[in-house]
Amino acid sequence: MSLEKVIDKKNTDLFKGVDMQKVPEHVAIIMDGNGRWATKKRLPRSFGHNKGVSVLKEILKVSKKIGCKVLTVYAFSTENWTRPTQEVDFLINLFGEVLKTEIEEIHQESIKIKFIGDLTPFPETLKEIIYSSESLTKNNNKFLLNVCVNYGGRQEIVKVAKELALKSSSGEIKPNEVNEELFNSELLKRGIKDPELLIRTSGEKRISNFLLWQLAYSEIYISDVLWPDFNEFEFLKAIIDYQSRNRRFGGIESLTNESFGDSQYSS
Ligand code: IPE
Ligand code: IPE
Ligand code: MG
Repeated sequence: MSLEKVIDKKNTDLFKGVDMQKVPEHVAIIMDGNGRWATKKRLPRSFGHNKGVSVLKEILKVSKKIGCKVLTVYAFSTENWTRPTQEVDFLINLFGEVLKTEIEEIHQESIKIKFIGDLTPFPETLKEIIYSSESLTKNNNKFLLNVCVNYGGRQEIVKVAKELALKSSSGEIKPNEVNEELFNSELLKRGIKDPELLIRTSGEKRISNFLLWQLAYSEIYISDVLWPDFNEFEFLKAIIDYQSRNRRFGGIESLTNESFGDSQYSS
């Protein structure tokens, strides 16, 4: 049996392991490890970023296939500007090139694409491609792909705080009307909903300023696989792992009030 067939068989088995009733609606991904992948192969880091794009296409396909509705990916953080100019320029150029070549297919697949983050510092040419892609796909309703670029969770929270402060000082809202719900609804105007699952590749166990508000109760799955080596198989493993979690949200899912009364802690 060829290696490809073995992988195919493994994937088929994994597909069977996915509980279609418990597929997360929204998965967020920190696509990390492109540079290390390339360096390991003695290649320039840019090769890792290029390979990372094809992985994203594969993950987009499989998430649609299993019934996810939203994928949010971290493509460029507010901290990534500190990288060498050559790498930053490469990435910015890559975003435009990928969008230009892929947008037709994205549209045909009825995927809506949205960019989250502060686009201001990007070149006009990239902004135009981004705006036209968003506008072309705005009525698509099969799937939503959020791409976070020049995105920072803290900056996003500060922005909302500032907007609410302005509304309060102009009298549009009262200071004591500021609560979690209002904050969340303000955030949702240009932000995203809470993901059920966060996947981070490359083994790093940190959030790196991603979706600080929205990840409050997300399940976290860390994969040691570097993003350019991530694939359908690894993604399905993450989904199955997620499905085995007991999401308690601070409660006690397995105990009812009655069983609490019966427990060893009752007086
Ligand atoms: C993730 O891979 C892509 C971006 C941050 C743009 P990295 O470029 O961070 O790769 P590593 O973590 O250095 O291997
Ligand atoms: C997070 O990865 C940002 C993206 C994947 C776009 P980084 O590689 O920038 O994060 P750190 O530096 O390891 O925290
Ligand atoms: Mg990294």
